[in-house]
Amino acid sequence: MDSFGRTHSDLRISVTDRCNIRCFYCMPETGAEFAKAADLLTFDEIERFVRVAVPLGIRKIRLTGGEPLMRPKLPDLVAKLSAFHDVRDLALTTNGVLLAEAAQPLHDAGLRRLNIHLDTLDRERFRQITRRDDFARVMAGFEAAKKCGYEVVKLNAVAIKGLTEPDVVSLVRFGRENGVEVRFVEFMPLDAQDLWSMDSVLTADEMIDILQREFGPLTAVPDADPRAPAAEYSFADGYRVGFIASVSKPFCMNCNRLRLTSDGKMRYCLFANEETNVRSLLQSDQTVNELETAIRSTVWQKWIGHEINRTSFVAPQRPMYAIGG
Ligand code: 5AD
Ligand code: SF4
Repeated sequence: MDSFGRTHSDLRISVTDRCNIRCFYCMPETGAEFAKAADLLTFDEIERFVRVAVPLGIRKIRLTGGEPLMRPKLPDLVAKLSAFHDVRDLALTTNGVLLAEAAQPLHDAGLRRLNIHLDTLDRERFRQITRRDDFARVMAGFEAAKKCGYEVVKLNAVAIKGLTEPDVVSLVRFGRENGVEVRFVEFMPLDAQDLWSMDSVLTADEMIDILQREFGPLTAVPDADPRAPAAEYSFADGYRVGFIASVSKPFCMNCNRLRLTSDGKMRYCLFANEETNVRSLLQSDQTVNELETAIRSTVWQKWIGHEINRTSFVAPQRPMYAIGG
């Protein structure tokens, strides 16, 4: 529990800071700098962290990156983590480029929930956004995931003003036809190139307007889990769409998330300007108490929330790909 009474049950583990595409709202086009392979936590070290964090209250784990499927042998880590019975919910966020090959091995290892990042259904716009021509591979990844029988597949899109508007309707139509939920994530000031400004955020309310004009009324779904970041809305036929309105409606007071970066730093917030290095504590089995203390104190240090909407906001030193989405 932190000093504001928020309990932390959700752990996001980044397994690599590398990525095979270059979304402009995340990465620079060239010259991205990555951690050395030798500085990444090993799967045994990640497992040690989880073994200590679960008895402290972690119940949900999401694997992220960079692009997590860039990490060799990822199914081995999934198998280790899916063996923790107290982890009710193990999920992965991927850009989908390598998913056609990875979907089945990950499912075999015990993964049941996938978020696929997809901003557009238009190959040319995909190329503009990601600076790579991999739209067909992502689609193949999505199809493969559907065939494997994942319990939950969701699509995530980053919403940018002046860019995403035409995709809002087409993504929701595609999600509805395929029976998967689409979630729009407001553009956050975490990009490597400092392109973000308040004017570049397409807000949840603006997207709700666009969707209602096309599909009719949307009703807010009462929160089954008030700690979940997405606000869910439902159309008359029951199909749902989600919005992660970090900018227009910050949910910091409900935040239950803790992060572990691929190089072994704990962060209590995406936007934190400090982190706790736990890597050395993960290199031995003799440091359980110290690690427990480090986890508790990192959570205790957690601030009240980010100040994106204030002039005093200072963007974190690490861009998104080095933190973990
Ligand atoms: N704003 C909002 N979301 C972002 N992501 C990456 N960069 C940004 C940003 N600047 C998200 C993508 C991806 C996840 C890993 O991080 O939606 O799904
Ligand atoms: Fe890669 Fe994800 Fe960043 Fe896009 S948003 S460049 S897919 S890490």
